[in-house]
Amino acid sequence: MRIETIAVHAGGSPDAATGSVAPPIHLSTTFEHGPESEKLHGFMYIRDGHPGEARLEPALAAIEGGEAALVFSSGMAAGAAALQSLPSDSHVLFADDIYYAVRDIAKDFLPRWGIESSVVNMADLTAVERSIRKNTRLLWAESPSNPLLNVVDLAALARLARAAGAEFLVDGTFATPVLQRPIALGAGVVLHSATKYFGGHSDVQGGALVFARRGEAYEKCMHIRHILGGVLSPFNTWLVLRGLRTLPCRVERQSENALAIARALENHPAVETVHYPGLASHPAHEIAKRQMKAFGGMLSLRIRGGRERAIAVAARAKLFTNATSLGGVESTLEHRASSEGSGSTTPPNLLRVSVGLEHTQDLIDDLLQALE
Ligand SMILES: Cc1ncc(COP(=O)(O)O)c(C=O)c1O
Repeated sequence: MRIETIAVHAGGSPDAATGSVAPPIHLSTTFEHGPESEKLHGFMYIRDGHPGEARLEPALAAIEGGEAALVFSSGMAAGAAALQSLPSDSHVLFADDIYYAVRDIAKDFLPRWGIESSVVNMADLTAVERSIRKNTRLLWAESPSNPLLNVVDLAALARLARAAGAEFLVDGTFATPVLQRPIALGAGVVLHSATKYFGGHSDVQGGALVFARRGEAYEKCMHIRHILGGVLSPFNTWLVLRGLRTLPCRVERQSENALAIARALENHPAVETVHYPGLASHPAHEIAKRQMKAFGGMLSLRIRGGRERAIAVAARAKLFTNATSLGGVESTLEHRASSEGSGSTTPPNLLRVSVGLEHTQDLIDDLLQALE
């Protein structure tokens, strides 16, 4: 079956108790068991697993083309579990442009867990090969990346990871499985912030790991969630499952809108650079064409004149709300360096744009008047 059909039907069988077509929300934290704690109905305690999770996880695995998935209370909880599952003395190789809070895990937590890390430009495969150490257990890529929209060759990186005996994790939050299938390209784990496109309406926080194989990495991450408790709540599970139903439609339309905006602004005199993998001027456009179905709803604009000028443009936007996060139906933008705060490595003239479902021309008109 194709992804549009899977997205509508996965985890959607009518409720066995009532026949309701919309899935029920079970808020119970505890489930009747036998006198010796025998599971009578498949569940015991909410932190071990709950009925919403049992619908959502196989649905995500099916959509992403993996064998199994685990959902978490946020994208960061999912990413932290992947890192916590590594033995101490491991080394993790991160791509140089990744979501800033993952860099903070590397700085603030990995040393305490006895894990080394380093950073490399993953567009340079020779540099990646050189950066792999004897104890490298994980390569962590994000494609397209937040906020520079870097695209890396996932199949080539998967080959390098495999040759080194390391796991290859791809943060596919920006692309979603609608546009990019890292597991089919050789990745072992795909990370998503479900807060973004999966939820799709800026009203739920969640995260997911999808595993190519239901193996040791899956079991370890399941144990971490069970004991440390980064569980996705029943209501949030329900909202993410609901979001999946329209994921392909939304992402396709958002990609069309973003491409039109990128093209409209590419040669604008007030814009220094548009970072968007769908533009022929993007350094990895050919790779993006090969490994993505379309180029996504995210883009970044580097404004001529520096930080103050970029902030002035953000302040003049009307339809685009100044807001963090991304992937909602409404268009938003933000001065990313201000949002990331001290320690940000984002260029000071960069505005990150999350393109929504409004009419393309209304969005272009708003950005043009803001750039005037
Ligand atoms: C690419 C990417 N990965 C991971 C995360 C973390 O997700 P969450 O905010 O749900 O913890 C984000 C959040 O913005 C993100 O943009």
